Amino acid sequence: MSSTEPERLDALEVSLIHEAAELFEAADHPTLLRLAKSFVRVVEIIGSVYDLRHLLELIMRESERAVDAETSSLLLYDTESNDLAFEIALGPKGDEIRKIRLPLDENSIAAVSALRRAPVNIPDVRKDPRWNKNVDEQTKFVTRSILAVPMLRQGRLIGIIEVLNKRGGCAFTEEDVNVLLILSSLAAIAIENAQLYQRSLQAERLAALGQAVASVSHYIKNVLTGLKGSITLIESAVHDGDYHILDRAVNVLKRSYGRIAELVKDMLSFSKGRNPEQVPTDSNQVLLEIHDMLVESARTRGIEIATELEPDTPILLLDREVLEKVIMNFVENALEAVYERQQTDYQIEGRVTIRSRYRDGELSIEVEDNGVGIPEWELSKIWTAFYTTKGTSGTGLGLAVSKKLAEDGGGRVRAVSNPGQGATFVFTLPALAIESPDMLPTLDDERAPDSARPT
Ligand SMILES: Nc1ncnc2c1ncn2[C@@H]1O[C@H](COP(=O)(O)OP(=O)(O)OP(=O)(O)O)[C@@H](O)[C@H]1O
Ligand SMILES: [Mg+2]
Repeated sequence: MSSTEPERLDALEVSLIHEAAELFEAADHPTLLRLAKSFVRVVEIIGSVYDLRHLLELIMRESERAVDAETSSLLLYDTESNDLAFEIALGPKGDEIRKIRLPLDENSIAAVSALRRAPVNIPDVRKDPRWNKNVDEQTKFVTRSILAVPMLRQGRLIGIIEVLNKRGGCAFTEEDVNVLLILSSLAAIAIENAQLYQRSLQAERLAALGQAVASVSHYIKNVLTGLKGSITLIESAVHDGDYHILDRAVNVLKRSYGRIAELVKDMLSFSKGRNPEQVPTDSNQVLLEIHDMLVESARTRGIEIATELEPDTPILLLDREVLEKVIMNFVENALEAVYERQQTDYQIEGRVTIRSRYRDGELSIEVEDNGVGIPEWELSKIWTAFYTTKGTSGTGLGLAVSKKLAEDGGGRVRAVSNPGQGATFVFTLPALAIESPDMLPTLDDERAPDSARPT
């Protein structure tokens, strides 16, 4: 069927629409208003709710309201096992009821409605042999009357809506049957919509997983090449008794090991997150250590690393490891961006600046560079795991991990860029200033069992 061709309505749907039309014609004004309101709400639900469970609950509430029922249940048809499964069952025994499955036979009212693809209206369940007492026994709910209506989509059975006990003690009317029929056909569309959405989400996730596996394999393959090279070196070193070659080989080995260890650590912190471990920290000292660690290798590449740190920043209670990791990632990226620009722009004096300031309980650290910069369209992508423009030399995990760690600790990260001219990355994080040594947590505080703490 082409996408422009209207979907053909099957006989059942046509008869439903006829019934609806007759109902509208026959209905008095209050009923019409009630129906119209239900319609509007259900149509709104169809368009806006993609979470299947939430959707089913809304449909149940709407059905109860529309026909004045005490409660309801919703069963979905399982095409594989050819039976009906309680999707939503409320009340304290809800979970047990959800395990009950009804085969498509004549032994339950829902199944009869499903088999006949027609409503089944039972004014008094005690007089009906098909009444399945199991559910009442488990819920301690006393069912008097029941109306089961199939949810159909182009003749396919999607499930059954059951409404229980018409309020006021009487039975469900013919009008209730019609109202529920209309609602159930809308509900079928909504459920199918949500199921399709979930399936496409799953497909998207699988595609993302595939992409992740591809990136990691690529990266590992690259490291393995290094490892293989070092094995060849070791073999020839042993063969020739040359310890200089052995030294070189061991260095390659160490670097490869380091790259794999970093990758595993990054993947773990990305997937598991981390409980912030706040310790009294001299944040400027941490930044100076990062500066000292990288300044020499940067200088050999013609890049200066400068620091503009706010003096008198107090000792702060924060997760030192997160601060180190995030800023290290920012500075390494900045150096790589400047280096990349220098490959085409020989005149440029490479510069990376680390700035810090502490205001209103918030520490803010900025890493500015005059590298290649980031185009506008790419700014939102760079935080995505495995997004890299560095081929096999990058994993694309640096910023994703930084963002996750920052947010797990209540902080934020952001980037601005002037494409072709440079970029600035900012990490902000709330941090309590420790003004007196009394505020430092003591070892005893840290070790106090939960039960000993005041609640
Ligand atoms: N300062 C920067 N200037 C320009 N582009 C940047 C900068 N920082 C990050 N990027 C872009 O964001 C991408 C993702 O960065 P991220 O740190 O997550 O991964 P990576 O650096 O590619 O790999 P890894 O961090 O594993 O070495 C980079 O590939 C790069 O394109
Ligand atoms: Mg990086």
